[in-house]
Amino acid sequence: MLGRDLQAALASAPHPEHRIVTPLTRLDLDITDPAACGEAIAGHDVVLNAAAYTAVDDAETHEDAATLINATGAENLARASAAVGAVLVQYSTDYVFAGDAASPYPENAPLAPVSAYGRSKAEGERRARAAHPEATIVLRTAWLYGEHEPNFVRTMMRLYREREGTLTVVNDQHGQPTWTRDLAEQTVRMLDAGVRSGTLHGTNAGATTWHGFARAIVENLGGDPATVMPTDSAQFARPARRPANSVLAHDGWARLGLTPMRPWRAALDDAMAQGVFR
Ligand SMILES: NC(=O)c1ccc[n+]([C@@H]2O[C@H](COP(=O)([O-])OP(=O)(O)OC[C@H]3O[C@@H](n4cnc5c(N)ncnc54)[C@H](OP(=O)(O)O)[C@@H]3O)[C@@H](O)[C@H]2O)c1
Repeated sequence: MLGRDLQAALASAPHPEHRIVTPLTRLDLDITDPAACGEAIAGHDVVLNAAAYTAVDDAETHEDAATLINATGAENLARASAAVGAVLVQYSTDYVFAGDAASPYPENAPLAPVSAYGRSKAEGERRARAAHPEATIVLRTAWLYGEHEPNFVRTMMRLYREREGTLTVVNDQHGQPTWTRDLAEQTVRMLDAGVRSGTLHGTNAGATTWHGFARAIVENLGGDPATVMPTDSAQFARPARRPANSVLAHDGWARLGLTPMRPWRAALDDAMAQGVFR
């Protein structure tokens, strides 16, 4: 989902003639293969690692598989990037945090994941930095939606059309819905500004719950948001625990002289108005 929007953002950013982009799927490169990572990265200045084991619930029973891709894979790319002096952008997640903080998590908050997926991504952050400390950027994101692949917006749009008025959505998890296109464009701005290392939070600004997110989607479809009913996570028991409050702070951008990403509602309205989910 993110990888394809990264390709589009790189193609549409100013001076695309200055960039030669090599987009790779899993069929082209298995990031768990260190030799293959070395071959794929040779000759490149920047590596954007949008590959991951993202099945959060499945990871509870397949933690080794998640760790192999999310931690060993990240480390392989970091080592290969270090060998050629390339900058590595390692995408990470709000799930590296426990979600019990009263205020947004700063970039340097201690990691305390509560799920196997979160542990594998936290380990990926640590191993990538350790293997390539001079030029690894950890870019944490959350609650992604976009044009490609199934996601919450697409699911809510389908459910709304199938059974208008009967949507029930959890209201006790707080986070930041984030459009992959916004994150991709922010990534390009970050690289163009010369950032080469550090930790940044690539989420749309503000915060809501899944219920608030669903209400906004229904409202944008011309429906009545009051028909979306709130419930709590206990009613939707799932294998992996989710952080209750994983809102991320954005101070890191200003420290670099960069503007944080726009508010989540503006991004959602824009994405739906552009019809990217049709
Ligand atoms: N989606 C979210 O809400 C969310 C939230 C926070 C953070 N993130 C992070 O954001 C990044 C992008 O997420 P996304 O939602 O765009 O992910 P996605 O749509 O699930 O894409 C992940 C891609 O990684 C590929 N992949 C898996 N194992 C691989 C391997 N060993 N070698 C090469 N490629 C491999 C997958 O290929 P196959 O499909 O063939 O397996 C898939 O194309 C990830 O780092 C994720 O952890 C996502």
